Amino acid sequence: MTVTETFESLYGHAPDGVWAAPGRVNLIGEHTDYNDGFVMPFALPHTAVAAVRRRDDGVLRLHSADVEGAPVELRVDELTPSGGWTDYVAGVAWALRDAGHTVGGADVHIESTVPTGAGLSSSAALEVVTALALCELYELGLQRWQLARLCQRAENVFVGAPTGIMDQTASACCTDGHALFLDTRDLAQRQVPFDLAAHGLCLLVVDTQVKHAHSDGEYGKRRAGCETGADRLGVTALRDIPYEDLDAALDRLDDAEVRRLVRHIVTENRRVERVIDLLAAGDVRAIGPLLTEGHASLRDDFRISCPELDLAVDTALSAGALGARMTGGGFGGSAIVLVEAASAETVSKALRAAFETAGFRAPRVFTATPAPGARRVS
Ligand code: GLA
Repeated sequence: MTVTETFESLYGHAPDGVWAAPGRVNLIGEHTDYNDGFVMPFALPHTAVAAVRRRDDGVLRLHSADVEGAPVELRVDELTPSGGWTDYVAGVAWALRDAGHTVGGADVHIESTVPTGAGLSSSAALEVVTALALCELYELGLQRWQLARLCQRAENVFVGAPTGIMDQTASACCTDGHALFLDTRDLAQRQVPFDLAAHGLCLLVVDTQVKHAHSDGEYGKRRAGCETGADRLGVTALRDIPYEDLDAALDRLDDAEVRRLVRHIVTENRRVERVIDLLAAGDVRAIGPLLTEGHASLRDDFRISCPELDLAVDTALSAGALGARMTGGGFGGSAIVLVEAASAETVSKALRAAFETAGFRAPRVFTATPAPGARRVS
């Protein structure tokens, strides 16, 4: 059955429309987004698709193809978190209303192909598809970056995960064939052409199948540590420490853990800028070592890798990859691998073999090309 047919069989009437919002991978710029820094994600072809019909009686009915049973029925003026998947959708309705926008209710059916818990922003896809549908159905006239902000607020306040702005902006604002260079301080954006195939290259995503969870507190601890660092250094955010001043800044910090966090953020922002320059110069292969450096920094300084991610990176590099790193929040999830298109199969095989030898679950390996951001499908 199509999304529309399922909607009709659930609710007994047709949806007003169908919208889609993608998951993302982040090419470079990890954990920089809550430090006012730089990120560079691109949208995946995997999307959350929502069939939605406006209703003006204050009732919000939510259904997901991934969950057995009848739609969950809520009232828009009494939304409170439940701890389940509906929080990502209800949280957006809550955030819109809390910001003063009129959202009177809706019937919603969602089907998603974004792998969950894989560090590929399945939650942001759910939030953004909801925001875009409600924005259009209630003619709220909000811009994409504003939708992303409201979705982040839904995640921070309603869901209770202290994440940055990258994932929602990627899902809302990415465009086909481009990576999105985003300055998370002022949300300035640049669409950077990212056509690896034209250079004989490809980017593999390696989903380690190790589920990550931000709510376990490690993400929040890193964020708090970064804020402590900024505070001790007397800056608004770690973004304000220029790379050239890093050593002097580190000398002023006595806490070893805070020093490591600061070093990661300052060097990572620098890596994003270098990747931008290399792509502009058409020197795409040269970004490989920067990806690998980024992984070492996340593993050793930020300390958010895990044995499966490290094995994926090390194996890919030994099998001839140009660069590899974990992507997303960490503690599991996915790695990305830059390879010559001709050796993609060899590298994938090496990854599967290494995981089997280590006794890990078989990874899911697929090729990622930059896909469009959120859109109305019908
Ligand atoms: C998660 C968060 C993002 C970002 C990344 C790490 O995906 O949702 O805001 O902090 O981790 O770069």
